[in-house]
Amino acid sequence: MVDVILGLQWGDEGKGKIVDYFAPNYDIIARFQGGPNAGHTLYVGGKKVVLHQIPSGVFHENTVNLIGNGVVLDPVTLKKECDTVAGFGVDVRKNMFISQRTHLILPTHRALDKASELQKGNDKIGSTLKGIGPAYMDKTGRNGLRVGDLLDKNFTTSYIRLRLKHQRLLDNFNFQEDITAWEEEFFEAIEFLRSLNVVNGEYFINEGIASGKKVLAEGAQGSMLDIDFGTFPFVTSSNTTTSGVCNGLGVAPQKIRDVMGVTKAYCTRVGGGPFPTELHDETGEELRKLGNEFGATTGRPRRCGWIDLVALKYACMINGVTKVIMTKADVLDQFNELQVCTGYEIDGKETAYIPFQMTRHQINPVLKSFAGWNQDTSKITNPADLPVTMKEYVAFINQFVGANVSHISNGPGRDQIVTV
Ligand code: GDP
Ligand code: IMO
Ligand code: MG
Repeated sequence: MVDVILGLQWGDEGKGKIVDYFAPNYDIIARFQGGPNAGHTLYVGGKKVVLHQIPSGVFHENTVNLIGNGVVLDPVTLKKECDTVAGFGVDVRKNMFISQRTHLILPTHRALDKASELQKGNDKIGSTLKGIGPAYMDKTGRNGLRVGDLLDKNFTTSYIRLRLKHQRLLDNFNFQEDITAWEEEFFEAIEFLRSLNVVNGEYFINEGIASGKKVLAEGAQGSMLDIDFGTFPFVTSSNTTTSGVCNGLGVAPQKIRDVMGVTKAYCTRVGGGPFPTELHDETGEELRKLGNEFGATTGRPRRCGWIDLVALKYACMINGVTKVIMTKADVLDQFNELQVCTGYEIDGKETAYIPFQMTRHQINPVLKSFAGWNQDTSKITNPADLPVTMKEYVAFINQFVGANVSHISNGPGRDQIVTV
């Protein structure tokens, strides 16, 4: 049996915290896509930790963690993360496994990411510059190197061959930066990676399921950044939606039970691309300040706006969401008035559908107002104590989206969550 936790917006919905919260109910926590572009924040013993590639179950004693084949893995970032979790007394050699089919991010992938963004100028994606796009391109282009290749004696030869190919591309981009230091770090980090548990991920997980183990699949990014269903081309390069679980771990669709979709009570986006409910005014600034909306991976300020129910309904449809977890409800505590987007007005016509190419249209959000609750909700543990106005806000979202908000997160802490 596999349950899934994934993002329903443009990422940073609070997936890390939510995975950490549910982890004790599972035996295996498995990341199925993305790479070091992700930044999942958790609090362990009151201390903040940001994980990029290590699954967010790593701090729980009775769970093991799998980095699935759908991930693109940067050994350099991984080594740093392993050092961080070791500082908390976690030995990843005991509780973390990596699929041999997982593709590697090479230093030249990072360089290519940077070169590509520079060439795009104002049309840049706003990539995290972690090499994600180029690494997935080498996967689908059938050139990439995988974790299992590290154990092959010809690895260095394969690396040099691919590096030369990348150099020709970098020359075309007229990319001049010296990446020798990145390569040194890389070779040091792959030595470390060779010492970790590399497994056949698809047998690992299916044999686990067959023996009754419970799996929680952890997504990165968000549904609106999905390569197929997101706001293309302003997306990431993987399937962030439920289908990504099947090919990112090697599990069959009928093994998937609950799909828990995480959404903020409002909305944010980092990087370029359409964001119909974005607020460019003081309210947007207030959301950024109160929600501390700065990227966990890049530190960039996140763009902020009201919750977009057109996009949320679409994301629930694509993912087959069975439960919605609403995070950062406490960030709205001080607002007198809240708004939700129930439609897009495009060329004078209202629609509740996501257009094929959002960037081609001027989209005006159709907004519905709600009264704010104007009280501190961050210490509430009992659902009966939630303000009536918050319940009305959530009930409307449930009804509009056809969803079921099962949990409301009311603070970054591990225990700040209310089951409704
Ligand atoms: P992820 O990428 O989806 O794991 O989310 P990030 O970690 O990038 O960003 C979520 C941020 O919100 C982090 O700083 C969390 O500590 C914080 N956070 C998560 N849930 C809540 C919540 O319910 N309330 C508040 N105030 N902060 C939260
Ligand atoms: P988590 O898992 C928010 C965004 C980037 C950029 C676009 C493409 O923490 O929610 P990429 O580096 O993937 O080529 O960038 O996607 N992006 C994210 N935004 N949260 C993330 O991950 C993201 N990962 C990528 O800002 O707009
Ligand atoms: Mg994040």
